[in-house]
Amino acid sequence: LIAPEVSTAAADAHTDPAKRSEANEAVFKERARWQLALSDVLKSLLSKEMLVMDKLEESTSAPLPDGFVLLQNGSPEIRLVKALPNEAGAGKSIDELKQLLGADTLKNGQSNAFRNKWAKKLPDGTFGRTDATLGKSDAELTDDIQLQLVEILATGSLAAPDADKKLAELRKRKLVATRKLVYFSIAKGAQFSLTVQKLETDLTFEMLQSGSWKTAPFKKYNFDAEGAVPASGALHPLLKVREEFRNIFFEMGFTEMATDRFVESSFWCFDSLFVPQQHPARDVQDTFFIKDPPYAKHIPEDYLKRVTQVHQEGGFGSVGYRYPFDRRVTEKLVLRTHTTAVSSAMLYKLANQPGGFKPAKLFSIDRVFRNEAVDATHLAEFHQVEGVVADYGITLGDLIGFMEVFFKKMGVTNLRFKPAYNPYTEPSLEIFSFHQGLNKWVEVGNSGMFRPEMLRPMGLPEGVNVLGWGLSLERPTMIRYAVKDIRELVGHKVPISSVENAPATRF
Ligand code: PHE
Repeated sequence: LIAPEVSTAAADAHTDPAKRSEANEAVFKERARWQLALSDVLKSLLSKEMLVMDKLEESTSAPLPDGFVLLQNGSPEIRLVKALPNEAGAGKSIDELKQLLGADTLKNGQSNAFRNKWAKKLPDGTFGRTDATLGKSDAELTDDIQLQLVEILATGSLAAPDADKKLAELRKRKLVATRKLVYFSIAKGAQFSLTVQKLETDLTFEMLQSGSWKTAPFKKYNFDAEGAVPASGALHPLLKVREEFRNIFFEMGFTEMATDRFVESSFWCFDSLFVPQQHPARDVQDTFFIKDPPYAKHIPEDYLKRVTQVHQEGGFGSVGYRYPFDRRVTEKLVLRTHTTAVSSAMLYKLANQPGGFKPAKLFSIDRVFRNEAVDATHLAEFHQVEGVVADYGITLGDLIGFMEVFFKKMGVTNLRFKPAYNPYTEPSLEIFSFHQGLNKWVEVGNSGMFRPEMLRPMGLPEGVNVLGWGLSLERPTMIRYAVKDIRELVGHKVPISSVENAPATRF
């Protein structure tokens, strides 16, 4: 890139608008374009690390017209002192001084000389010298201001000490102007080369498939880049329905559980819930196991002992499953298959909190993972809505009552309950509701009373019962927003138009 040439006249016009003309205006426009192009080229070379750049700053000062006058004649204050009689008690009248120095110099000189205590008003109204200047020859009266200007003219700045203070004073007196110069120093970077390599910006499917991503040169990520401003935005339907559920839970006095552990041990996901280690839900066909690291580090040892015992031999009125419990199996890390893993860990905490167990109503709404073939109604990851109530003496009647209140708040009435099976609840109930549009009974949730084999080893006191229920967040969302294929709700097949055309909010 070659910079367009700028004539001296045009360069002058740059600092002095009075000298601008149409012709040099065009040169400036051209130069501005060139600067922009140069900055683009620089940015690109910097991002490739072909160059490194340092920002430098420098201030230079230069005398202004008044400063040049002062350089020639000396400072008004020194000129005034020199004009005064060098004799104690003798003065010179203002009129005389005005004639000698001129009105401006006298005015300036007076204010500075009086401030410096170099001159004073005598009782007869004339101006005279002070003790500081009496008896001094002209040569002994050093003109600091003039010397400073000489230094500035020669070097563009002042040497320490107090350079900043002195410059500020000179600027205040309009004797000098200071300009800040920002410039850049450029040097060869780590990737310096005379040819520009084209760097990859996107990781493509083809690169992943061929393995070429391993050696491909990638462009460095620019974390300072501003994102493109989206033309429109809306909450995702799942977020809106989640908000409705959250509000219902809060209205009913529930507290939200922390659900930030997508990776969980099999212990919390299955064993603590009295799910036997041979249960089909624990197969690779159903569960995603973590490869690296494969095993959990921490499982509460005491509690694990009691869980092992209840699986192998039973207890609390149960005969157990009577199989050899494998510690390695319980340590296996999984992507949690249900939020009941969270409920279980919370119930254990509740039983062992300082001060002992206190009744609680807890809920969670978050993501779970199942190794399922994806189709119109199934995803390998979805969201569960789950509530648990732990209190003394609650019963199946409470569970049914809770379900009726909870679903009514969602506008779902006419519930039917069907006996079902969960390893961790007994009795278990599937919840159905009559769907007008489909003209049939549809399952809306799963629920039950947690088994003593799960609750007692946790340390929950005798007499405390826990009810729980769960449902997916996707199903009610699909019904509410008339989405027929779940893949249009979540994942890479979501039509952009559904995002663009969504109303801004809907609660
Ligand atoms: N965990 C159950 C599921 O994944 C839901 C459930 C929660 C059932 C609590 C009973 C009690 O379907």
